[in-house]
Amino acid sequence: MPYPVDSIRAQFPVLVRNSSGDKPLAFLDSTATTQKPECMIDAMNKFYREHYSSVKRGVYRLSEQTTQAYEATRRNVAKFLNAASENEIVFTRGTTESINLVAWSYGRKFFKPGDEILISALEHHANIVPWQLIAEERGATIQVIPVDDNGDLILSEIPRLLKPGITKMLAITHISNSIGTENPIAEIIRTVRELSPETKILIDAAQSAPHLKMDVQALDCDFLAFSGHKMYGPTGIGCLYAKYAILDAMPPWHGGGEMIQKVTFHHTTYAAPPARFEAGTPPIAEVIGLGAALNWIQQIGIQEIRQHEMEMLDYALKQLEQVEGLHILGTPAKRGALLSFTLDAAHPHDAAMILDEENIAVRSGHHCAQPVMDRFHVPATIRASFGAYSMPWEIDRLVQGLERVVKIFG
Ligand code: ALA
Repeated sequence: MPYPVDSIRAQFPVLVRNSSGDKPLAFLDSTATTQKPECMIDAMNKFYREHYSSVKRGVYRLSEQTTQAYEATRRNVAKFLNAASENEIVFTRGTTESINLVAWSYGRKFFKPGDEILISALEHHANIVPWQLIAEERGATIQVIPVDDNGDLILSEIPRLLKPGITKMLAITHISNSIGTENPIAEIIRTVRELSPETKILIDAAQSAPHLKMDVQALDCDFLAFSGHKMYGPTGIGCLYAKYAILDAMPPWHGGGEMIQKVTFHHTTYAAPPARFEAGTPPIAEVIGLGAALNWIQQIGIQEIRQHEMEMLDYALKQLEQVEGLHILGTPAKRGALLSFTLDAAHPHDAAMILDEENIAVRSGHHCAQPVMDRFHVPATIRASFGAYSMPWEIDRLVQGLERVVKIFG
């Protein structure tokens, strides 16, 4: 059956609302955040209008039902990632908070002076800065796997950079949000396990969980982080997956209601994971929205979505060749559903403003990955990215818009 992109796109109110006139919205910024399908919006709306109550704080039926819906999403996430148990899933505000949780809980307890944290040259700031902050506090240092001119990590450097007993954490992105490289994550994990079995491994899956089947048990990662809003769910919700034994060894990082076992003024004991890491009233509606988004993805099929996005990517790579003075950053061996480029004619911000006049939404800037920009000697790029609802005409409009930019500035 052909991929039903028309009926998929028809489920996104923002795309439908902006589809008329001679400049229909070309939404090419799904890497920053995806649009929301009606069923996800309805699930949150229905919760607020019909079932609203808190979780785990009442014996009355409404609250029990809400607790069940909240925990059903946790089970769904565990299934989505093939985690061994739903108790390995912690709800957070997003990928950034998930990584900070690991840094400030695991890192604060287990890193000591002289330890090293290994990251890669392709990281988003969210997988750099938390490690720098905890490294400074604990007296640890950061090492970086370099990237070649194609945008591929230089994997042959890993044996030199990875030091058994010293490298406490490898924290690495699966897909680069700035240039699109899809790292061979399974191969990297195998290498690290072989050379330094005690090094913990965290995958930043912000840009892969919405596009690829993730299997945390097959990958054998220790931690994995992703955000709901990049996978058709609401903002303000994300997940941290961690192996249960590791989570159980980690201290809380936020104190408050529901993360405790027993509180006295002299001593407090803590709940078992995942509750230990979910202090305070959680974002209940957002968790319910995330559940609806995951169901929506599962109904279409993540492999089908991926296949469609790869077709969009191939089409874009080909069509953009027509634009004079356009340079795509990197030619990685494998690429996610995004590409980044510069123009000889105009700065990325000026180009993006002209594109906006044409109702074409792209991201311009450093994409929260300044070290990547420095590595490729550019101040910024224009980034086009794709999702389940992307259509070839959006890419055609991008090409036309860029031709207009070249005409104006060239
Ligand atoms: N990390 C998101 C992006 O790349 C916000 O645009």
